[in-house]
Formats: sequence, C-alpha cells, structure tokens
Amino acid sequence: MSDKIAKLSIGNDSWELPIQTGVIGPDVIDIASMYKQTGKFTYDPGFTSTASCESKITYIDGDLGTLLYRGYPIEQLAEHGDFLETCYLLLYGELPTPAQKTDFDLRVTRHTMLHEQMQTLYRGFRRDAHPMAIMVGVVGALSAFYHDSTDISDPHQRMIASLRMVAKMPTIAAMAYKYSIGQPFVYPKNEMDYASNFLNMCFAVPAEQYKVNPVLARAMDRIFTLHADHEQNASTSTVRLAGSSGANPFACIAAGIACLWGPAHGGANEAALNMLHEIGSVENIPEYIRRAKDKNDPFRLMGFGHRVYKNYDPRARIMQKTCHEVLNELGIKDDPALEVAMELEKIALNDEYFVSKKLYPNIDFYSGITLRALGFPAEMFTVLFSVARTVGWIAQWKEMVEDPSQKIGRPRQLYTGSDKRDYVTIGQR
Ligand code: ACO
Repeated sequence: MSDKIAKLSIGNDSWELPIQTGVIGPDVIDIASMYKQTGKFTYDPGFTSTASCESKITYIDGDLGTLLYRGYPIEQLAEHGDFLETCYLLLYGELPTPAQKTDFDLRVTRHTMLHEQMQTLYRGFRRDAHPMAIMVGVVGALSAFYHDSTDISDPHQRMIASLRMVAKMPTIAAMAYKYSIGQPFVYPKNEMDYASNFLNMCFAVPAEQYKVNPVLARAMDRIFTLHADHEQNASTSTVRLAGSSGANPFACIAAGIACLWGPAHGGANEAALNMLHEIGSVENIPEYIRRAKDKNDPFRLMGFGHRVYKNYDPRARIMQKTCHEVLNELGIKDDPALEVAMELEKIALNDEYFVSKKLYPNIDFYSGITLRALGFPAEMFTVLFSVARTVGWIAQWKEMVEDPSQKIGRPRQLYTGSDKRDYVTIGQR
C-alpha cells in the first residue's frame, strides 16, 4: 500500500481513497470502502478502468506491447522453453529445475487418459455438434467423474485437479474433433511430448501409421505457450467469478470455455482467416482498407486492434514467424491468405487511420493461417485456444482460492428499469 491518496468530492463533501501501487503498471485507486463512505457505486461497463483483483501471474503493458508470465517475457519463453515449462511457471510461480521439470512432465503424462465411461458422453452429441459445445459439456462433466479432486479447501486436491485439467484437455479436445469427423478416438501415448501427443490424437487413424512432424509439433507447442494466459480477459474473469462462489474447478473451467467461444474473444482467428479469404488477392486490399475506415460500413479488419495492446501484440510477431516455419515445412510456397496478410499488414501499418488509432495486428491475424496449415478445420481453432488457456485459467483460479481476502464476486448496477409499482391482476390489464 502506498501513502498516495485520491480525493473524491461530491458537492461540499469530500473523501479520501487509498491508492495502491503494483510492481509495474498504473496505480489503482482502492474504492473498496467507497460505498460505505459515500453511499455511491462506481460505474464501469466492460471494466475498462477497473482492476477486479490483485494478481502475481501475468502482466501486460499494452502501450509497449509487452507480455510477461511471472515476469518472464513471452518471446523468451516461446523461443527457449516448452509449453509444460510455461505451465509449471504459471502454476507454481517459478521456472522448474531439471528435476522438477521431469517430475512435472511425468505427473501430467500420467493423467492424460479419460475415464472410459466418458466416451458415452461424446456419443450423446450429434455428429455435427460444434466441438466447443462438446468441450463445454465434457469439461463440466469431469466433476461427475473425478470426485476426489473437487474439495477446493484441500491444497492437494486443488493441485490434482489442476494437473488433471492440463493433462486431459488435449485428450478431450482431440476426442471432440474425432467425434465430429466420424473417426475412432485415439488414446494418448505417454512416451510422446504434450504437443506431439495432441497432434497424434487428432490426426492418427488405426488404418495407417501416422508420424508426427517435429517442426509442426514445435509450432503447436509454441501456439499453446502464446495462448497460455492473458491476465484478466473475459474468460479468465468468468472463471474467477464462477470460482468465487466455491464452485468446483472443473465447473469453473467449463464456464471459461463457454465465454471463450464468443467471436469477440476466442473466435476472432477464424474471422481473420475468413476475411483473408474474402479479400482473396493483393489487388483487392485497398478496397477493404477503405471499407475498414468507413464509419458507415460495419466491416473491420479482423485480427487488427486490441482492447489492451496499443502497440504490436508481442504474440503476433512470434505467430508470424511460426506461420512461416509451418508453411515452409509443408512446402506451401504461395499461400494466398499469407500473401494477403503480409501485404495488408504493411499497408495498414503505414496508413494514418490505423497509425493514429494505434491499431496493430493481434495474435489472431496469423494464427488462423497457421492452424489451417497444421490441418485443423476452423471450428477447432477456439478449441485449441481453450486447451492452451486452461493452465492460465486454473492458475488464476488457484490464486483466487488461495487468497485469504477472497470474497464472492458480486458487481452492483445502475438500475434504470421501472420504479416500484403495484401488481395489476391479469383481467385488469
Ligand atoms: N478495423 C478498423 N477499425 C478499427 C478496428 C479494426 N479492426 N478496431 C478498432 N477500430 C477503430 C474503431 O472503429 C474505433 O474508431 P473510432 O474511435 O473512430 O470510433 C477505434 O478504432 C477504437 O475501437 P474500439 O472498438 O472502441 O476498441 P476496443 O478496445 O473496444 O476494441 C477490438 C478492441 C474489439 C479487438 C477491436 O479492435 C476489433 O473489433 N478488432 C477486430 C476483431 C479482432 O481482431 N479481435 C481479436 C482480439 S484479440 C483476442 O481476443 C485474442
């Protein structure tokens, strides 16, 4: 707590509110006592000026384009580490020693199988169900299968639930995919690394040998790392709010997946890929740039702009590099979507409209092209995002549950409905 004070005055009355200082980032005015002192609430739809919690996990500086997990820049983690190392870091707060890493990898690997009876759950869905609908249902149902890790007051059970979730999400996601295309489920293989195992469960079939390409597995792993956490975004805030009532961790993560499904959040990479296809070729770009700038046209450049980043999204830079690596490895020389993306980015970054509004490519600009090249259909893009983000959700959930000052989340409102009125019986209306 700093000794800085904010002064609030309304008419002739004034109050003092403490200002808290974080390690980095803007100070926050602590308004927790404001209602008691003043009888007034604050109003901030969309939480554009409100910190909903204190956290030690992830930091974003949107103006500088910086993303840190537990203090480490995303670029360094993506370049030198692997996804499970990032999971350890997010869950425990420090990078693992070699022995801790080996032990952690082993513990995750030992939890990758799903209870066999869960297969019947999948079979209850229509074949054409969106895989995100299956994800919401199956992850929520985990609490019906793993009762021994739903007591949130027990630290051991919390950690087992966390490991189970990180370990089982690839299996759940791959099964959702296999079910949607009518292929048999592929069991996890413990000798494979996390990303290779996931690709194998998605693309292997019993009829033919499938060999995981290590370059593609490395790209998949990096995509997971880039999406692992992003502080208090909509789905993470949803997980925290659900968890604040004491709900079990599986139910909370299912709530996070439901929120991620929305096109303004996890669904943007699909929209960006569709837009690149719609533009079709470089000659059409000026027309789309003109439309994006036209106030009377609802069209927006998908994969451009971000609520927090007012600079290049650091994840987009790594994603662009990964995209090139994947296309090179697959021998895709002239991908029209990539060609349009590169040219569009060049034009937009030099256009006064985009420069003055600080609109830069976000991670979704290149991730759709990459995921499609890896072999995933568009409906799976958000599913992959949810596999990666699970560790962030669970780390944030654990942090909240372990915070002694934690309370149930209960926002207030500005009521603008009818004033009190008397009931009128149906015959009199
Ligand atoms: N294309 C054209 N103009 C844009 C774009 C865009 N992609 N994004 C923002 N603008 C303009 C807006 O029209 C607005 O202009 P104005 O001030 O003249 O009215 C200004 O920039 C600010 O935009 P807001 O929508 O107010 O900014 P906000 O922070 O609410 O929105 C958002 C951020 C939703 C990401 C927005 O930039 C957008 O719609 N981008 C396209 C969708 C997208 O890529 N989403 C992925 C986000 S990343 C993720 O979820 C992982």
